[in-house]
Amino acid sequence: MSNFSIKKHLKKNPFCLAPMDDVTDIGFRELCEEEGASFSVTELTSVEALIRNKVLKTRYEKGKLKINSVQLFGSKVQSFIDSISIVEKEADIIDINFGCPSASVTSNMSGSALLKDPKNVGKIVYSLVNNSQKPISAKIRLGYDKFSYLDVAKEIEDSGADFITVHGRTAKQKYSGRANWDAIKEIKEKINIPLIGNGDISYPKQIDLYLGSHADGFMIGRSAIGNPGIFKDFNSYYKNAEKKNEIMDTNFLKKRQKEYFKRYLLKLENRDFYNLSLKIQRQAMWFFKGIEGVSKLRTQLCKTKDIEEIKRIVDDF
Ligand SMILES: Cc1cc2nc3c(=O)[nH]c(=O)nc-3n(C[C@H](O)[C@H](O)[C@H](O)COP(=O)(O)O)c2cc1C
Repeated sequence: MSNFSIKKHLKKNPFCLAPMDDVTDIGFRELCEEEGASFSVTELTSVEALIRNKVLKTRYEKGKLKINSVQLFGSKVQSFIDSISIVEKEADIIDINFGCPSASVTSNMSGSALLKDPKNVGKIVYSLVNNSQKPISAKIRLGYDKFSYLDVAKEIEDSGADFITVHGRTAKQKYSGRANWDAIKEIKEKINIPLIGNGDISYPKQIDLYLGSHADGFMIGRSAIGNPGIFKDFNSYYKNAEKKNEIMDTNFLKKRQKEYFKRYLLKLENRDFYNLSLKIQRQAMWFFKGIEGVSKLRTQLCKTKDIEEIKRIVDDF
């Protein structure tokens, strides 16, 4: 058992980075933590792939992170148990994905498909709690097609999880509509373990809307893509009684993004990734989205796979 208390940790800083496949690689997560993310979660990782030795360690390594939450998905209890010894040395928290709506995941009764079967969710959580020394958390949506969140959250709590993260939509909804923060609040009222709320948090001023849920923490996903500075912005807004925001003109923004991107590139050096140049090109488009000249930058980046050349192009941007 570890002494780590997520509640205490989130009290100091409630804003964390959501797991996002193909986005939140180790370099990006280190950058976000340096910029004020309370912690971050790895991209979802298949327990079946892990135990067959088909996952690069880069996907779940601790690197320079203070807190590394490693997210697993699967359907078989034994496979979850077998994967623990592989990830445990790198992980400060092991998180279980009960929210992924993608057909490639749900067709194997993993991810959000498990929300149809709260007892099974409980079995998986219990198996990890019983076989791992690390804190265990679960990330859920409100249900698969129908709401099952209260039953699922209760199972997760009763099975001994340390905390729960809730994205306020069903899997069927994918990203449509608004996230249902009333449901998040309802879960918070019914359980005693800490809860992190998630869904549609985009800019600091909005946080007052979500504080009413009494969530212990707030997880930011899409708005953090290409935007590690969002954590600095949220923290300074949250801590500053006058609630002033830094005025960001285009030049300031471009300079800030260039600096972030250069730091991101440095973090990728000497690390193994599948298709590194594609990753860098994609991240560059996200980092510089909305900045004048970005389409020319895209054209230039698409012509090269050479990392040094990519650095030069970004320098000249
Ligand atoms: C590109 C992308 C990839 C995602 N990958 C994962 C994942 O690997 N694991 C997970 O639990 N959620 C994943 N999510 C869901 C997010 O973690 C988050 O719950 C969702 O985007 C809602 O938060 P937001 O409104 O702040 O974006 C992903 C979302 C996006 C947009």
